[in-house]
Amino acid sequence: MSSQHFLFFLLLVYLYLAALLRILIEIPSCLGSLEDYTACNKQFKCGTITAGFPFWGDYRPESCGHPKLLLNCSGSNTTTEIMNIKYRILSLNSGSQTLRIAREDYLNGPCPSKVLSSTTLDDELFDYGPDYRNLSLHYGCSASSLLATAPGYLTCTIDGTNNRDAYAALDASTDILGLCFTIVVVPILAIVTSTNFSKVGEALRRGFDVKWKVDNEECNECMGSNGACGYDSSLNRTTCYCKDQSSGSRTCSPSGTCQ
Ligand SMILES: *[C@@H]1O[C@H](CO)[C@@H](O)[C@H](O)[C@H]1NC(C)=O
Ligand SMILES: *[C@@H]1O[C@H](CO)[C@@H](O)[C@H](O)[C@H]1NC(C)=O
Ligand SMILES: *[C@@H]1O[C@H](CO)[C@@H](O)[C@H](O)[C@H]1NC(C)=O
Ligand SMILES: *[C@@H]1O[C@H](CO)[C@@H](O)[C@H](O)[C@H]1NC(C)=O
Ligand SMILES: *[C@@H]1O[C@H](CO)[C@@H](O)[C@H](O)[C@H]1NC(C)=O
Repeated sequence: MSSQHFLFFLLLVYLYLAALLRILIEIPSCLGSLEDYTACNKQFKCGTITAGFPFWGDYRPESCGHPKLLLNCSGSNTTTEIMNIKYRILSLNSGSQTLRIAREDYLNGPCPSKVLSSTTLDDELFDYGPDYRNLSLHYGCSASSLLATAPGYLTCTIDGTNNRDAYAALDASTDILGLCFTIVVVPILAIVTSTNFSKVGEALRRGFDVKWKVDNEECNECMGSNGACGYDSSLNRTTCYCKDQSSGSRTCSPSGTCQ
């Protein structure tokens, strides 16, 4: 082999390795599907609620949103589950990343037939909105003569106790006197005052605000490049689906080639 041939051979090897490297680097970010792009460009629509990223459900497959942000359309009512409690979504504001939600199990008033759980939010995903109070519903209380004159006095028949005396209170999630069978804490908008509990049922139906904490910055960048936002649940992060079927990078390139 002459030295010229040898140089030519080296050049070929170099080009081959370079091409291989390019493939190795680029292939992962080029794996995507047009289905994800098309599906995640669609909005969830149900009654008055319209939602995009980070939600999924209905015509938006799981790849379009955070695994825990599943919306369910039934009739024209939208529901979602947070920590095993079902909520009706009354409104959704994607600008402020706020949901107004009301507990399905308290839509009929403060006296459900069985003991329900207190609301807890998934801290990783939600914060409370600015204007809420904790309404505590005390069920199965004794010493009714003492309670009957209390502003939040209720009579409720619930499973597990024959005691029908109950009362609602604000920010009182402990039963200091040990008079009651159970206490359920439900956030409400600050429309109930501690001296007037006539609006308790209404307050439960009107719900309260939560802010979702999924970062929107990456999604905005993605949409700015005409991509569709989605969620990679194996990597636990926001992802971007492009029209050219690429995904995995933060944005879509204008030329339609993988970045
Ligand atoms: C949606 O809600 C309906 C009615 O409440 C229920 O039957 C169904 O299982 C729910 N679907 C999902 C995916 O949660
Ligand atoms: C939807 O909500 C309305 C108002 O609360 C209620 O009357 C209706 O039964 C609900 N529909 C379904 C399918 O849950
Ligand atoms: C309401 O209750 C929750 C859960 O117990 C608690 O984390 C939160 O600080 C309470 N908020 C107010 C305003 O008392
Ligand atoms: C409580 O609120 C209701 C409804 O707004 C009102 O009709 C009633 O007069 C109020 N009661 C008191 C004691 O302020
Ligand atoms: C997902 O990512 C968030 C934010 O980076 C982190 O707080 C959370 O623990 C992660 N969850 C899982 C299941 O990896």
